[in-house]
Amino acid sequence: MNTADNNWEKTWILSAALVISIVSYIYIVATAGSVNVQLVQLEEWYGFLCILLLFKAVLAGPLYRVFPNFPYKQQYYKSLSGLGIACFYFALLHSCIAFFGLLQGFRGLPFLNTFELISVIAGFVTLLILSIMAATSWNWMMQCLGPKWKIIHRFVYLAIGALIVHVLLIGSNYTNFSGVYAVVPLILFLVLLLLYAASTRKYLFTKMPGTPRWLITLLVSIITLSVIFSFYQLHILVIGGHHHG
Ligand code: HEM
Repeated sequence: MNTADNNWEKTWILSAALVISIVSYIYIVATAGSVNVQLVQLEEWYGFLCILLLFKAVLAGPLYRVFPNFPYKQQYYKSLSGLGIACFYFALLHSCIAFFGLLQGFRGLPFLNTFELISVIAGFVTLLILSIMAATSWNWMMQCLGPKWKIIHRFVYLAIGALIVHVLLIGSNYTNFSGVYAVVPLILFLVLLLLYAASTRKYLFTKMPGTPRWLITLLVSIITLSVIFSFYQLHILVIGGHHHG
């Protein structure tokens, strides 16, 4: 069994996550006026940090496929399991504060409209997947699970999809995309999508050498634009729903 599980990167990231969560908790509790404002600010901040970490973890694959010589590759890959666990930690903090604080636990569920209920279920699915990935992110788990490990970690894409549904349906910062909390994730999502499109295009060039390159580029562009358009439509639907509801 590999003892290199507790590498320097992981220890550093997890310690930083712990310190940041405590310092920001103290700061928000000291500065926010009422308990409700405290809960909202904590939930938004922890949710935001979770998205940043998730983005950083998922970025590695397509980034180094498109730019194989991009610096710090080894350190980046070594930090992935730390990023995943820290991401789960912030997701758990966010979920507990939002569920037991803002929604007042199971008692609050009957007061949610359909959009909000779907959103909470999507949030729960995201949390569940992140917890499974965090639990299996240790080296010895990797060795025990073998090829199954890769399949489990592919679920991160489902987590991202569920997360997008979650925030578009319930996040107050996501109704008009005006604040930093929504604009930064939006930019990160577009960067990630473009990198995935570029890496898929590169992969298809080598996999299907007989197919004209312009055709592959066109196909990948259409799929990328369709993904953006679908989420945009979902956003429009939600805003419409909020106006009429
Ligand atoms: C059972 C699990 C979850 C519950 C009950 C939950 C609940 C909520 C609620 C009630 C809001 C709306 C707060 C507002 O008015 O803005 C919200 C927003 C949000 N949630 Fe969750 N959530 C869960 C899981 C997650 C997970 C796993 C993530 C991240 C990976 C996440 C990220 C976010 C983000 C980024 C927002 C938007 C906050 C904003 O508007 O700035 N949530 N969540």
